Order: sequence, then structure tokens, then C-alpha cells
Amino acid sequence: MASADSPAVGTSDRRAAVTAVGHFLPEHRLTNADLEQMVDTNDEWIRTRTGIRERRILKDDSKASAFMATEAAREILATRDIDPATIDVVIVATVTPDMLFPATACLVQNEIGATNAWAFDFSAACSGFLFGLTTGAQLIESGRYERVLVIGADKMSAITDYTDRSTCILFGDAAAGVLLEPHDTHGLSDVVHYADGAHGDLLCQPGGGSLNPPSHRTVDAKMHYIQQEGRPVFKYAVTRMADACSEIMARNNLSADDVRYLVPHQANKRIIDATAKRMGLPDDQVMVNIDRYGNTTAATIPLCLHDWEAKLRTGDQLVLTSFGGGFTWGASLLTWAYDGADAA
Ligand code: UT7
Repeated sequence: MASADSPAVGTSDRRAAVTAVGHFLPEHRLTNADLEQMVDTNDEWIRTRTGIRERRILKDDSKASAFMATEAAREILATRDIDPATIDVVIVATVTPDMLFPATACLVQNEIGATNAWAFDFSAACSGFLFGLTTGAQLIESGRYERVLVIGADKMSAITDYTDRSTCILFGDAAAGVLLEPHDTHGLSDVVHYADGAHGDLLCQPGGGSLNPPSHRTVDAKMHYIQQEGRPVFKYAVTRMADACSEIMARNNLSADDVRYLVPHQANKRIIDATAKRMGLPDDQVMVNIDRYGNTTAATIPLCLHDWEAKLRTGDQLVLTSFGGGFTWGASLLTWAYDGADAA
């Protein structure tokens, strides 16, 4: 594990700022009422235990994470009228790549015409975007790169068992991401990131890799679906996310008044509420859209940034936080670098 003293991003004179945001949401809505017809569950249980009302599902079997990530990347480029040939790096965080290789990021790089970019995927489950953002920021800080796309994309419906009521109510499909560019003062200034592989088995997709390659046995045992021990994962998530947020606030001498928004991974509204409570933040300073999209894994945090972008102002301090499979978790301090569209 990293210590509180470990060197962080943002220590160079050149920071990496988010300068554009984009997203993609499939049209089809899978509601709690729909799920009541599929498994033994009910709207009241799902809403009170998770905060979810509906999620989006990419119904078209010929499209997957690369398609959604490409749409998000196109939106990012369009908002600033950016020539794709000026993109230096494409990072896609995903646990549902179109295939094990080539990387989904390479498919996106080709689709958007980022002819001068190198590209790779990032696998850190629900922390994929947070860790990918740090990685992208450090590429900018190095002085070697000017424009890095960081996109979280997950077609969770592809690995969800719709006969398992403990998981199928949770997940949805989406992609969202950001453009990182150099900035003198604003951007990513600090991170605390952690991993604890001792608990990998509590949240995993055990089949399909080199240990359990696809076979009749792995299909029969449902090893290609998400498997989660919800209760222990919940307990770890509640404490670890709140701890990471407290740590980043303490070491940057921030009080709740200094933080404009908490931008949490959207796995469970109760986890988000507990984290916000520990930070002393009121509801209107917490980005929550889990009710509309469910848990979209690597896409949740940039999807929040997209949904709140119009409200954000230059200099707003945001605490981004995640907890997910691995386990992986952490928090990041991001100072927003531009005024949203409805700025006065
Ligand atoms: O994003 C990556 C990180 N993941 C997370 O952070 C998820 C963490 N875990 C959770 O969010 C929660 O544990 C869940 C939402 C997955 C489950 O909520 P819970 O309050 O922990 O429920 P539970 O698993 O303890 O189950 C409570 C009861 C059980 O019945 P009994 O044994 O008390 O009779 C379950 O069988 O609720 C039952 N149950 C359901 N009932 C209706 C489980 N799933 C359902 C369901 N509908 N969909």
C-alpha cells in the first residue's frame, strides 16, 4: 500500500487539467419494474437497498464497450472542435473490453482517427477511471504529451447473470470520459490510491482469462458472469472510500467548505451517503446519478462529471473517489479548470 507520504501527482509545475467531458448512454432503460418480471425482487427493495430506479442497457449485440467509448470520445472532441490527429494517448478503463486483445483503446483510436496516438486499456474495475486519470495526468506532467483521452467504458450487461437477483439489479452500460491537457495551476493535484488483492475473490469474473479459459465447464459453472459477495464488499467499500476521502482532505488541509463536490463511484447510494457524511458534505454537494444509471463500473465518475459539467466553475475543488474489485480504491483532488455551459 502507498503511504500518506508517497509522492503524488501534481507535484510538478505542469499540471493536468480536465478540459472537456463526453459521454454515451444507450437508449434502452431497464427499470426495477422490468426486473420484477425477471427475478424475485421488488422496486422497494432495490430503491431502499441501492438507490437505483433504472439502468441503461446496450441491446445491440453487435456493439460493445468500444462503440460506447468511441461515442464518448467523439463527444469530447466535438465540444472543443479538436482535431483527433492532435490526441497523443487514448486510455480506456474497462473490465468489459470488446475482446481480450487488441485493446479496446486501440479500437477507439482507430474509430476516432487519432492517427498519432498510442493507446492501451486499463483494468482496475470500478477504480479504473480514477487510476486511469492519475496515469493520464502523469503522462501530461512528464512534459512529453499534450492531449490525453481517459475514458471509462463498460458493457456490464455482457457479464451480468440476469437470473441472479443479487447482482443483476445493480449494473448498467455506459461510457464517459475526459480530455486532459496541461495547465499551470488547475487540474489533478493529489491522489491516494490503494489495492488489496487478498479480497479479489469477493468481487470477480473468474472465467475467460488464462486460468479458466472458456470451456463447457466454465460456461456451465457461470464463471463468465460477475460474482459478488455483496455484504462484505459493502463493509469494505463504506470504510475504505470514507477513509480515502478523509485522508486526501486532511493532507491538503481541506474542510467541507473547501470542497465544491464529492464525485463518488456509484455502486450503492448508502455507501455514497456514508462517505459524504464522514466528509461533512450536504446532499447538494454530492454528485449522485445512480438512480438513473445504476453501477456502470469505470464510467460512473466521468458520467457524473458530464451530468454536473454545466454547474462547474473554474477553481471548484472536487474530490473523486472509488472502491471496487481487486480490491482497488482511492480518492483524487481535482481543481476544475473551466466554467460550465450555463455559467453566468
Ligand atoms: O462497484 C463495486 C463495489 N461494489 C459494491 O460496492 C457493492 C457493495 N454491496 C452492496 O451494495 C450491497 O451488499 C448489495 C446491494 C449488493 C446487497 O444489499 P445488502 O443490504 O447487503 O443485502 P444482503 O446481500 O445482505 O441481503 C439481504 C437480504 C437477503 O435475504 P435474507 O437472507 O435476509 O432473507 C437477500 O437474499 O435481501 C435479499 N436479497 C434481495 N431481496 C430482494 C438480495 N438481493 C435481493 C433482491 N431483491 N434483488
